[in-house]
Amino acid sequence: MYNDHGNTILVFIRVADSKYTNDTGEWCLSHTFSLYTVNHNTEYIQNQKNIAMKRIQIINGPNLNLLGKREPTVYGNQTFEAYFNELKLLFPEVQLDYFQSNTEGILIDKLQETGFSCDGIILNGGAYTHTSIAIADAIRSLTVPVVEVHISNVFQREEYRHHSFLSEVCKGCIVGFGMDSYRLAVEAIIRF
Ligand code: DQA
Repeated sequence: MYNDHGNTILVFIRVADSKYTNDTGEWCLSHTFSLYTVNHNTEYIQNQKNIAMKRIQIINGPNLNLLGKREPTVYGNQTFEAYFNELKLLFPEVQLDYFQSNTEGILIDKLQETGFSCDGIILNGGAYTHTSIAIADAIRSLTVPVVEVHISNVFQREEYRHHSFLSEVCKGCIVGFGMDSYRLAVEAIIRF
């Protein structure tokens, strides 16, 4: 990023790796980055304190475990696992965790487990989006921002998909960009 004079760039340099246990007790790797200013003469000036890696939890609801084989004309041919690997490569500075369940209560448990400690949640509630006051109540209770995503443009589809119980309690919604909806949601949380 250049300043007004066009002669300064800000860079993040990975300075430390550490291990931590996530909300489900698994060991995860966390990276600490340091923000540097680099000027024309390639002098490196550390001008900020170390910045901890952001942690974003992706939660997918019912039937999204079938991505890749489920209605490919609507949802595409890629499995979520394959897409998730690409997403992690796009954001090496972010700790991304992925969880999927077909069960409403288990999704609520995951929201409660992660929704007070990470930096943001990306939630595709699947069909529960259109039915679940319980998931909406769970989101309402959390302290971290939740971004609602949908792969398809639900507003171009059946009328029963036009209403979401989740939208009013989410920070924002990203709808209809295919799998790229998740990337856009990561960007939104990073910038938020
Ligand atoms: C969906 C849209 C929902 O209406 C549907 O029930 C899904 C997927 C989407 O990502 O486009 O399961 O959330």
